[in-house]
Amino acid sequence: MKGDGPFPASNNVLLEVRNLRVIYDTTFGKVDAVSQVSFHVNENEFFGLAGESGCGKSTVAYSLVREVPPPGKIVGGQILLNGRDLLKLSNEEMRKVRWKEVSVIPQAAMNALNPVYTVGDQIAEAIMEHEKAPKDEALARAEELLDLVGVGRHRVRSYPHELSGGQRQRVMIAMALALNPPLVIADEPTTALDVVVQAQILNLFKELRDKFGMSMIFITHDLTTMFELVDRIAIMYAGKIVEIGPTDKIVDDPLHPYTQLLVKAVPRIGKGERGKFEYIPGSPPNLLEPPPGCRFHPRCPKRFEPCDREEPRIIQVDRDRWVACHLFGRG
Ligand SMILES: Nc1ncnc2c1ncn2[C@@H]1O[C@H](COP(=O)(O)OP(=O)(O)OP(=O)(O)O)[C@@H](O)[C@H]1O
Ligand SMILES: [Mg+2]
Repeated sequence: MKGDGPFPASNNVLLEVRNLRVIYDTTFGKVDAVSQVSFHVNENEFFGLAGESGCGKSTVAYSLVREVPPPGKIVGGQILLNGRDLLKLSNEEMRKVRWKEVSVIPQAAMNALNPVYTVGDQIAEAIMEHEKAPKDEALARAEELLDLVGVGRHRVRSYPHELSGGQRQRVMIAMALALNPPLVIADEPTTALDVVVQAQILNLFKELRDKFGMSMIFITHDLTTMFELVDRIAIMYAGKIVEIGPTDKIVDDPLHPYTQLLVKAVPRIGKGERGKFEYIPGSPPNLLEPPPGCRFHPRCPKRFEPCDREEPRIIQVDRDRWVACHLFGRG
């Protein structure tokens, strides 16, 4: 298997995803949403997953806890958490893994709370279900968690509608942390929030990381927030990972033409002219019928002879750097 994708060389690997494939089996045909996706996340590492809307980020997130909504189906690959393949577990075994070993802060999380229960009860419920803790103990933990995420324990009896969007988002973060899992997946956790609250949530994640030493998969299409927070980044395009590398390398020296365009579109961090926003021309393909060869070739300013018929394999170009592009050899 080694040499067949971006597989880890380090020995502190927490999560290893190999050749993940997920489809949405619709009445119009099969949407090839996630195709041959491989990456790993180390212990205490913050790992970013970036790419334009529709490139498959959320589908990867939900696959990792085996909760891809229908008609989605995981049809191939391995998801190794501490070496154990989650795709081989029974539903009952998987239920024990969720929240305790890996939890998800869902996209638009602030709307995911149940309106008829207090936030304290909702956090306590997750604790009681997994740890068989009595209610008063679980509520005491919920209070601690509400303090931890900056909502404050006095909100334990509040209903979701009594909280601001930012506070609700923090409650969802508290729930994701309730059982202290080693891996948290945050799917666009700040996108719906104003910039001040966004910055506060990013700081909260940094504090939590120092405190608990957990790993995080941080998903966003907003590269600025990502660059501030994560150690390594995987760039996705049309269901595939096109590049993986350390954050500073992705910012200073992006290799894949798609990554180059994405980084240039963020003038504050990229080498693009200050204040000049460059859109990426065209739009991502319909994954019911992805383009042949490299999926990015119809939009790629650097395409050449093999790109429209040969799919580039992801190859290692440097320590910790992987890219899937014919410019970097045809393997
Ligand atoms: N229920 C569904 N039925 C059919 N296709 C779907 C369904 N859900 C997602 N898809 C398709 O799967 C692909 C990946 O979607 P996904 O939601 O994972 O993307 P994303 O990167 O999270 O996008 P965003 O940034 O908008 O959240 C898209 O092409 C989308 O159209
Ligand atoms: Mg999404």
